Amino acid sequence: MSASQAGIWSGPVGDSWVRNAAAYDRALEPLGRAALDLLELGPHQRVLDVGCGTGTTTLEIARRVHPGGSVVGVDVSRPMIEYARARISGETEGENVEFAVLDVEKDDLPGPFDAAFSRLGVMFFDHPTVAFANIASSLKARSRFAFVCFKTPSENPFISIPVEAALAELNGPGMPPRGAAGPFSLADPDMVRGLLESAGFESVVISSGPDEVTLGPASELDDLARQAVEQNPVVMPLLISNAHAREAAVEAAATALRDHVHTGDVRLGAGTWLVEARVADR
Ligand SMILES: C[S@@+](CC[C@H](N)C(=O)[O-])C[C@H]1O[C@@H](n2cnc3c(N)ncnc32)[C@H](O)[C@@H]1O
Repeated sequence: MSASQAGIWSGPVGDSWVRNAAAYDRALEPLGRAALDLLELGPHQRVLDVGCGTGTTTLEIARRVHPGGSVVGVDVSRPMIEYARARISGETEGENVEFAVLDVEKDDLPGPFDAAFSRLGVMFFDHPTVAFANIASSLKARSRFAFVCFKTPSENPFISIPVEAALAELNGPGMPPRGAAGPFSLADPDMVRGLLESAGFESVVISSGPDEVTLGPASELDDLARQAVEQNPVVMPLLISNAHAREAAVEAAATALRDHVHTGDVRLGAGTWLVEARVADR
């Protein structure tokens, strides 16, 4: 991961994910659940949650492997891991949960694990083969990895509509080019299959996942627009460096979202891949 990406997730973008954790979790829950269900987790399993963010999926995994199982959530973002840790301190629910600040591209991962999972936490790697090989080596032979990631920007209007409206008000580059680290880096399923196979996985199965996202109630539209742009690792730094245009950018995102209110909710199309793979025999 480039220094700037690491800085982004431990800086204002990470702070935004902490501040708006409940809203992001509400919107993204169906995406994570679809990938998590593929693992068919049960008691006594030890699981890795990659790019676990503020820890909601990690806590859900802990429930699924109880009793006797455990889960480690790893993330490069210090504020998100601090928030996740605070959620389990003093809770008996947290006894089988650990959180660690780790860069999956650089740091050794604890293990061995029976399974690995990620909700949208594997798209921000500069060297994805290195990161995926690191995940593979933390897993026991034949164990499974499942994650959800995004298809292309045009298939994800719930991201691209507010983000492009905001970017038009800001002075800076647009979304990263195709394939570069960013929310859409794993949009090409053939590339994903190749990456995983060269990282030591086999039996790769890629299928379409949830196809819409409810951002939240229309009564909260202005907040939802702000959250949609502030959670984005491309837009948030531009909001800071263009402080004078910040409110105009958020307002542009809100205007764009107003066309997408359905039965009281702000709901837009999404394009997701559910990816499953197995670690090859060693
Ligand atoms: C889109 S957020 C998803 C967070 C969380 N999984 C969720 O669904 O709420 C992407 C996450 O990946 C993490 N991440 C990005 N690159 C990483 C890396 N190299 N190692 C560990 N975590 C990383 C970010 O810090 C961020 O928390």
